[in-house]
Order: sequence, then structure tokens, then C-alpha cells
Amino acid sequence: MPGFSDKSVLVLGGSRGIGAAIVRRFAADGARVSFTYAGSAEASASLASETGTQAILTDSADRDALIATVAGRGPIDVLVVNAGTAVLGDPLTLDPDAIDRMIDVNVRAPYHAAVEAARRMPDGGRIIVIGSVNGDRMPFAGGAAYALTKAAVQGMVRGLARDFGHRGITVNAVQPGPTHSDMNPEDGPMADAMRGFMAIKRHIRAEEVAELTAYLAGPQAAMITGSFQTIDGGFGA
Ligand SMILES: NC(=O)c1ccc[n+]([C@@H]2O[C@H](COP(=O)([O-])OP(=O)(O)OC[C@H]3O[C@@H](n4cnc5c(N)ncnc54)[C@H](OP(=O)(O)O)[C@@H]3O)[C@@H](O)[C@H]2O)c1
Repeated sequence: MPGFSDKSVLVLGGSRGIGAAIVRRFAADGARVSFTYAGSAEASASLASETGTQAILTDSADRDALIATVAGRGPIDVLVVNAGTAVLGDPLTLDPDAIDRMIDVNVRAPYHAAVEAARRMPDGGRIIVIGSVNGDRMPFAGGAAYALTKAAVQGMVRGLARDFGHRGITVNAVQPGPTHSDMNPEDGPMADAMRGFMAIKRHIRAEEVAELTAYLAGPQAAMITGSFQTIDGGFGA
């Protein structure tokens, strides 16, 4: 695997779950890593001291704060937008404010962060958004708004790949299926139903998603752009 010792990496939403695994993956390969968090101050402090990375309090739903944080990092070689929430349930009773906040975090934030990062990103940089296989397939009730946000990521990835391709900057989505985390624990109430949709019936490990993310960030992935790299155990098959 490539080393990232000369690279500056920003992970938006790195305090827990998949984001924390991505922070660990890049830090282990020598990158200068900073990551944002919104609610998990303790977990962030402990991850930062364990990995020698920098934790920055920034709510992705606060557009101006998010843009200021991205701009404040200077030229970033790799931007990973992982921060996301899942508001699931009956669309007739879900709180519209909760839906709009999810859209702020899952859709508006990746767009504004990607554009801001691209302003200073060196040629050959990498923008990677953690989407979801639910951008392709939503096989259960209650996930319409979440699927909407992850399908929106796909449109953004296609478009920005065209906008920044002349600079060798690649823009891709990593699309996990059910991945063991606080959002989707392998022993949670939805776990059996989730595994029922998979060809390989186990939850994905956050480290497996981080590995795919690191692959896309390396020099071997220079010609992969505008694409969705799905890691879902066959959920979408
Ligand atoms: N787990 C799955 O099965 C699965 C499947 C497909 C896609 N995904 C996607 O993968 C990503 C990570 O999911 P996960 O399972 O690791 O979720 P998680 O365990 O709930 O962790 C979410 C992470 O995002 C951060 N975050 C959430 N809202 C934020 C905000 N407003 N501002 C800044 N950071 C914020 C959290 O930080 P704080 O705690 O500090 O707020 C935390 O670090 C999400 O985009 C999710 O949609 C997950």
C-alpha cells in the first residue's frame, strides 16, 4: 500500500465508527491528519492523542463554520467527507426539522466542503465522500430521505469529477453496506434484517471501508473518478 507521509488529510466526521477507522488508517501510513467532530468531544480527544492527529470541533450542519474549517487547513491533499446521520422511519410522522438537518449534514456539507477544499488542493488531490449502497438500493421502508441524501452524493460526485478533472483531482464515493458502528450495530434491532439483504451475511468492519478509502487516495487510483466504489457484502446485488 502507498505511504501518505507527505500528505495532508482532512476527515470530516472522524470521531467514531467509519470515520475513526479512516483517521487511524491514514495516520498509520504517516499522513498529517486532522478530523472534525460535532458531539463526541471525549472520543475525539482520545483518538487524537492515540493517533497523533488533530481534532477540530465543527458541526457539518453549520455551513460557514464548515467552510472556515476546511479553508483553515490550507492545501489539503485528501478530503474525506464521512460525517453523516441516518434519520429513518415513517415519512408521515418523521420530524421535518430532523430530515432537513440530515440533508444539511449528508448533502449540503459534502458539496460545500468539497468545493472549498478544491480551491487550494494541489493537482492530483483526492475528494472522497462516504455515500451508501442505499444511494443505489433502498430495500426496506422508512429510508426514503436517507436514500435521497446518498443518491444526491452520487450526482455531486459525477459533476465535481468533471469540474476538477483537468487538475488531476479525483472525486469518488465509497458506498458501504451495513457496517458495524454506533449507527448500525451488528447486534442491533435491525441487524438481522440488514444481513438478510446481503450475499455475505456479516456486518462490514469499519477498517474494511477505511482500506477502500485509502486505496482511492493513493497514486494507483489516479484514473478512478466520478465513480461509486461499493463495499456492501452483496447488499445491492
Ligand atoms: N454504518 C453503516 O451501516 C453505514 C452504511 C452506509 C453508509 N454509512 C455512512 O458512513 C458514514 C459514517 O457512518 P458511521 O456508521 O460511522 O456512523 P456513526 O457511528 O454514527 O458515526 C458518525 C460520525 O459522523 C460524525 N458526525 C455526525 N454528524 C456530524 C456533524 N453534524 N458534524 C460533524 N460530524 C458529524 C460523528 O461525530 P460526532 O459523534 O462527534 O458528532 C461520527 O464521528 C455516514 O456518512 C453514513 O451515512 C454508514
